[in-house]
Amino acid sequence: MSHFQSVARVPGDPILGLMEAFRADPSPAKLDLGVGVYKDAQGRTPIMAAVKLAEQRLLSSETTKGYTSGHGDAEFGELLLRLVLGQDSPLLAGQRGGQRAGTTQTPGGTGALRLTADFLYHCLPGRGIWLSDPTWPIHETIFAEAGLAVHHYPYVGADNRLDVEGMLAALEQVPSGDVVLLHACCHNPTGFDLSRDDWYRVLDVVRRRELLPLIDFAYQGFGDGLEEDAWAVRLFAAELPELLITSSCSKNFGLYRERTGALIVCAADHDKLLDVRSQLASLARNLWSTPPAHGAAVVAAILGDPVLSLQWQTELDAMRERVLRLRHGLVEALQPFGLAERFAHIAVQRGMFSYTGLSPEQVRRLREESSVYMVGSGRANVAGLDEQRLGELAAAIARVC
Ligand code: LMR
Repeated sequence: MSHFQSVARVPGDPILGLMEAFRADPSPAKLDLGVGVYKDAQGRTPIMAAVKLAEQRLLSSETTKGYTSGHGDAEFGELLLRLVLGQDSPLLAGQRGGQRAGTTQTPGGTGALRLTADFLYHCLPGRGIWLSDPTWPIHETIFAEAGLAVHHYPYVGADNRLDVEGMLAALEQVPSGDVVLLHACCHNPTGFDLSRDDWYRVLDVVRRRELLPLIDFAYQGFGDGLEEDAWAVRLFAAELPELLITSSCSKNFGLYRERTGALIVCAADHDKLLDVRSQLASLARNLWSTPPAHGAAVVAAILGDPVLSLQWQTELDAMRERVLRLRHGLVEALQPFGLAERFAHIAVQRGMFSYTGLSPEQVRRLREESSVYMVGSGRANVAGLDEQRLGELAAAIARVC
């Protein structure tokens, strides 16, 4: 008898699978616009200089490999809270006795989402979760597999434009108490972000309908700047008594494989925060026990040192500016093909991704005919573009349009 007889083979993850397919493609002209990682002008995903310096310090100063706590590195937690909520956030006033927000370190932003899903399922039973349509595909599976009912609100229309009215109308119908997942900035997969006016309107619905916001904050610093990108998060934290934030250090510290992230909980008062945190530590114990230490130690070493922190911010600024240049450069490169207007939204979108508007068939042809790899939905990782080859890419797009 085979115990595994009934185990069927499932297809691999479409985003991670693109990485494998790209590596296996022998074409020297291949271009990887698939998975969301930043690439420099040489096509490498570099280790940031500030990270390397922090790692060198850690190598000589680290004294133990003993377990961290269920909430992870406390110094990382405090510094990340300030990065996300702002140095002067009233939620952090009064230190331990009065603080209304706390960090639970997780393996990446994905880990934070998974912990959130378990928390909602176990501690707030019966709540549904509402995701933008479209959203990062893993949002769909994480919450569904944790046992939550997953629903959608419109986000981008058939015309590949932000549909704020559709979004707001749908949120008006969400049952009171349900959870709404919002992308703080650099919406994945579309790159279309809400304006400040839009955020105020979303806040109004969330408050009136007593919804619980979960803000996914995976790209702080990749949109308009570290502080600017945190604007909506801080607005919600200031205006609402309760809020969940999933934060990732994968992109802005370039720590992808170190799996560094956190779930930040904002509660009505310190006592309730401790109740929620006790549940999170207990849930995390069943998921990964205690989180991996290295990435968080690197982030803490950087954020805790003004010189390293400034160096890191300068590097992050350069990455963001490069992506913005690539957005404008691609639209310009499409001009000679009469496609600049059709793809003008690429320069308006923010963050790593662009929902190009290319169909799955066009994406397939780009891959087969020109070795250009992007997600079937038409999502392109702009941060993977090569400044020298924008004309080549534009020509390849023109051939399938
Ligand atoms: C992406 O969407 O490409 C990134 O968030 C990486 C991932 O894990 O999918």
